[in-house]
Amino acid sequence: MNAHTKTPVTHSAYAATADEAIAAQDALDSGMITSEQATEVAMQNTLLTPRFYTTDFDEMDAIDVSPVREDWDVLINAMKADPNKGHFKKNEDWGTVDWDGMEPKLRAEFIDFLISSCTAEFSGCVLYKEMKRRGSNKDITELFQLMARDEARHAGFINDALREAGIRVNLGFLTQQKKYTYFRPKFIYYATYLSEKIGYARYITIYRHLEENPEMRFHPIFKWFREWCNDEFSHGEAFALLLKTDPKLTESFANKLWIKFFLTAVYSTMWVRDHQRPLFHEALGVDVTWYGQEVFRKTSEISKQVFPMTLDIDHPRWRPNLDRMEAASRQVAEGKARGGVRGTLTRVSGMAKAAYAFVALYTIPAKKNAVPVRPHLAPAY
Ligand SMILES: [Fe+2]
Ligand SMILES: [Fe+2]
Repeated sequence: MNAHTKTPVTHSAYAATADEAIAAQDALDSGMITSEQATEVAMQNTLLTPRFYTTDFDEMDAIDVSPVREDWDVLINAMKADPNKGHFKKNEDWGTVDWDGMEPKLRAEFIDFLISSCTAEFSGCVLYKEMKRRGSNKDITELFQLMARDEARHAGFINDALREAGIRVNLGFLTQQKKYTYFRPKFIYYATYLSEKIGYARYITIYRHLEENPEMRFHPIFKWFREWCNDEFSHGEAFALLLKTDPKLTESFANKLWIKFFLTAVYSTMWVRDHQRPLFHEALGVDVTWYGQEVFRKTSEISKQVFPMTLDIDHPRWRPNLDRMEAASRQVAEGKARGGVRGTLTRVSGMAKAAYAFVALYTIPAKKNAVPVRPHLAPAY
């Protein structure tokens, strides 16, 4: 097929590849001023903002999926069947959004939530797209192409929502300009597996809460969360299978320490970030502390499919140190904002407190878990 004569897709929701989705989103904005401010927020690189990753693509290309072939083929075929094609697009369920009537502080937090979600979705897209581009292993490139397609649709849909508020994250610009952090492939597996599964747990928890309390749904995008999180669930399944191709990844002593590190880092980062958006959670009628623990509980339950331990989130040291970490991160932000010598001192002592709280969390004894031979799970929440 000649790519030049193909009719371009009109919306990212129908795109078969990530590139088509990005082009469709860009076309929607031609002639419109792009929001520099939103892109600027998305460009930020701090410990708490979503990052873009790069890795050793050759090593990933060399993965042999034969040990998990049967489950692999089932998963790939389900992704190829593309049940969510066309889903990530506004329809009559969307209605009108009263951006101007929204309380300004809530509006600011919600926009921050959308921008950071869009950046996170797009960060997955960029990494997966690059793996597809660099690889030659059919199994691997096929999987990454399918995942990149989904993430581009997700990012595009969030951009649709932001566009209504006069804001847009410039995806093409981000790809070129944002800094990339290098992670070894095994760290990509741990971090990405977890972020896909925690993404599922986050979206489904909000979705179920709003199903019971529809009057709290202050924006229509939440209606799309169920299909959305099912995509993330499948992506997580793919990484569970990748982790299963090499037993050392989850069974060696050193790697167990790494897994515990990533669990602690991902959970505590989520806690701190969510506590920075109190009005957003209040508007949804969600107690942010309950929400955090609930998401950890679901993620831990799911991650038993492949990780040999779960964190003890009911341990007496758990919550107090998450709160310490949150207070420390506020102190770091204050120090940064103040600047000068005193600002630097505030910032450095905040960082020391955060590191101390992290060590206190990391050293809580984990709960051992006997991993099943086959990881397959279906979204059950
Ligand atoms: Fe996604
Ligand atoms: Fe995903």
